[in-house]
Amino acid sequence: MLISRYVLASLALIALAGCHRDHRRTVAVIPKGSSHLYWQSVHAGAAKAGKELNVDIVWDGPPGETDYAGQLQIIDAMINRHVDAIALAPIDRKAMVSGVDRAASQHIPVIIFDSAVDTGSYVSMVATDNYKAGQLGAERLAKILGGKGNVAMVKVQPGAASTEAREKGFEDVMAKEYPDIHIVDARFGMADVAKSLTVSENILTAHPDLDGIFASNESSTMGAVQALKSRHGEHVKLVGFDWSPALAADLKSGLIDSLVVQDPFKMGYLSVVTAIDKLNGKAVPKSQPLPARVVDRNNMNDPDVQAQINPDMKYLQ
Ligand code: BDR
Repeated sequence: MLISRYVLASLALIALAGCHRDHRRTVAVIPKGSSHLYWQSVHAGAAKAGKELNVDIVWDGPPGETDYAGQLQIIDAMINRHVDAIALAPIDRKAMVSGVDRAASQHIPVIIFDSAVDTGSYVSMVATDNYKAGQLGAERLAKILGGKGNVAMVKVQPGAASTEAREKGFEDVMAKEYPDIHIVDARFGMADVAKSLTVSENILTAHPDLDGIFASNESSTMGAVQALKSRHGEHVKLVGFDWSPALAADLKSGLIDSLVVQDPFKMGYLSVVTAIDKLNGKAVPKSQPLPARVVDRNNMNDPDVQAQINPDMKYLQ
C-alpha cells in the first residue's frame, strides 16, 4: 500500500512533537552570590517551582557579590549547556549586560530577579520595589528619631542596582521630607560582613554624635550591628535590611530597631514560573514588583511575617 508523503510528513511531525514533550526542561538560576541566607531562600522558592512544574533547576552563583567575571562565566556556561531559560540576579547593572544579551541572542529567555540590568533583552523582571523599600527605611528611621538628628548609611556597592535604588529612596525621603535629619556619612560595605564592620566602626569613630544608621542589605546590617556592639553604640538607632536568624536575635535584643524585609522565596518561585510561562508561549509582564515590609519587635511574630521570613526550606533537600 502506497503511503502518501503527506501521511509520512504528518507522522514525522507527531513524533517530533512527542519528542519535544518528552524533553525535560532545565532552568538555570544564577544569584548574585551564595553566602547570604537571602540567596538560600531564593533557591528554595525556585526549587519549589521546579518540583511543581516538573523542571530541573540548575543553581549556580559566585561565592561573593562582587565577582562580575565569575557571574559572566556562569551565564556563558549555562548558554553552552543549552538550558531552556535563565533566571539571573545581575551583580552589576552594566557588567552583566553582555551576558544577558548573549543569552537572548541564543533564544534563551532571561528572567531578571532581585536587581536590575541596563538592557531590555530580558523577558521579565521579578524584584522588590527597592526604591520604595529605601523610602520605608527612611520613614522608619525619621519616626524613631523624632524627625531630627545625624544619620549615616552603610551602603553595599556601586553598580548594584537593587541596593543603589534602596539608598536613593532613603536619601530622597530625608532630603525632601526631613530637613532636620542630616546624612553625615555614607560608606560601602561591599556585600561583605567584615568590610561592613570596618566601615561602620570608622563611621562611629568619625561621628561620636551619631543618632541613627541605615544599612541597605543583609551583610551591611550585620556589619553595622557588630560595630554598635563593639563600640558600645547601643544608643544609635539602626534600621537594617533583609532577614537572618542572627539579625532576628539582634532585633529581639533591641540592638536593631527594625528590618526592611523582602520576599526572596517568592522571588525565586515566581522567576521560575515566569520562565516556564514564557517557554509555553504565554505573555509575561516585563516587570513584576514585590513589596517590602518593615519588621520590628511588635510584628515579627505575626503569622504572615513568620511565613515570609521563615520560608519552607524543605525544597532544598
Ligand atoms: C540582598 O541585598 C543585595 O545584596 C541583593 O540585591 C539582595 O537584595 C542580599 O543581601
